[in-house]
Amino acid sequence: MTPNGGYVMSLLFLFFAIFKSTLGQNWAFEIDKDTSSKDYPRDSLSNFTELARNYGYTAEEHTVITDDGYILSVFRIPKGKNCRGRIRQPPVLLMHGLLQSSDSWLDAGPSAGLAFLISDACYDLWVGNVRGTYYGRRNVRLNPDTDPQFWNFTSHEMGKLDVPAIIDYMLSETGFSELNYVGFSQGGRIFFIMCSETSGYCDKIKISIMLAPAARVNYTRSVPVQLLTRFYAVIEPLLSSPRELEVFQKGGLIQKVASFFCKDNILAGTVCRTALTLIDSYDPDSILTQTIRVLFGHFPGGTSARNLAFYGQNGIAGRFQKYDYGPSENFELYGTVEPPLYNLNRTNIPVVLIYGENDFLVDPKDVQWLSSQLPNLIEAYQVRRLTWTHFDNCYSQYTNVIIFPKIHEYLQKYSKDGCV
Ligand SMILES: *[C@@H]1O[C@H](CO)[C@@H](O)[C@H](O)[C@H]1NC(C)=O
Ligand SMILES: *[C@@H]1O[C@H](CO)[C@@H](O)[C@H](O)[C@H]1NC(C)=O
Ligand SMILES: *[C@@H]1O[C@H](CO)[C@@H](O)[C@H](O)[C@H]1NC(C)=O
Ligand SMILES: *[C@@H]1O[C@H](CO)[C@@H](O)[C@H](O)[C@H]1NC(C)=O
Repeated sequence: MTPNGGYVMSLLFLFFAIFKSTLGQNWAFEIDKDTSSKDYPRDSLSNFTELARNYGYTAEEHTVITDDGYILSVFRIPKGKNCRGRIRQPPVLLMHGLLQSSDSWLDAGPSAGLAFLISDACYDLWVGNVRGTYYGRRNVRLNPDTDPQFWNFTSHEMGKLDVPAIIDYMLSETGFSELNYVGFSQGGRIFFIMCSETSGYCDKIKISIMLAPAARVNYTRSVPVQLLTRFYAVIEPLLSSPRELEVFQKGGLIQKVASFFCKDNILAGTVCRTALTLIDSYDPDSILTQTIRVLFGHFPGGTSARNLAFYGQNGIAGRFQKYDYGPSENFELYGTVEPPLYNLNRTNIPVVLIYGENDFLVDPKDVQWLSSQLPNLIEAYQVRRLTWTHFDNCYSQYTNVIIFPKIHEYLQKYSKDGCV
């Protein structure tokens, strides 16, 4: 699809306006007065432990510190409310996508949120968060509000440092030597980066189940996402202050406006639903209006401008490659003028890919290519529902029939009933 010039220009203008407005943190916005108002759905204002408790689940909060000092909150549901049997082993790590957080796995409620479904199936569930989200906005040395260096990261560092730190923590807390991994979108991307860039961590995973993983993103059909990430690829080198380098944070203008308007039942079902459809694609009735009212309380949840730029670069290059610093710096860092590819062939543990035909962010063509690169692919499963989109993987009311049975099938195959 080739978007026409007018559409491109107006979107670019919109991004520019968004970009300028996110810098104006002092906007006297009525919304500020309203954030404690009672017409927000309870779940949209709840954090992970509160959200779980709202439905009778017990969640623990843990703190993981990465090698470079980022402090990440990681949550655990040791036993789901509806788990009747014994807890299966080993533990499972569930990883969110770009601009999401652990909370995104609860937004669809107890009958569809994957954190509820997986823990109810008696897995010891850990739900991670990466640096730059509101659960990863702390560092032992760097201040996110004053140190630009805090924001000098992309999904490269999430894969190289965040995921290994979480794995080490989980294994030491539970006493196991292995675990199972479920990742959505960027949550899959950073797994492949970890396997490519570290040694010893990939082997600690018995099976990795990836929902629409964003490794190569050459065929992304979403025009807004293409333009946004490519816009950041162009302007990122010009940014210098933490206020410019942190983007789409929770509590920032975009998230505040989105949660303010989308808390309303009518706007959620019309304007906010249309916005999701424009960013991704259309799946009639799949995402409940109630879920839309809740999810913007946790989305977007923040990342670095550099991370968006990284996706933009990968989209332009059509390759799953490392950050492009420009020819001379690339040569110094990598020894080549072009950034090197990530080594997907180092992901030698069993991998299952799950994807939908109607996903405009991670296109099925990119997932099929990915499946051809993985040395130990167990299954590449295209879901039966042909209208299945990217966001459906965490927000659809049908996750329990469309994707959960496949996830459960493989988790079960690579687990045993424990004696906890
Ligand atoms: C979640 O909310 C509870 C209750 O308000 C609070 O005690 C806890 O610190 C919060 N956790 C996080 C990670 O923000
Ligand atoms: C960001 O970090 C890289 C190393 O990961 C370093 O080479 C680069 O100079 C840093 N950039 C800034 C702007 O500090
Ligand atoms: C990327 O997509 C374009 C079409 O959008 C195609 O022409 C090109 O061959 C693709 N590149 C790769 C590496 O597949
Ligand atoms: C793994 O992939 C890299 C990069 O794509 C390639 O250079 C290397 O030869 C591959 N190794 C094997 C064993 O296939």
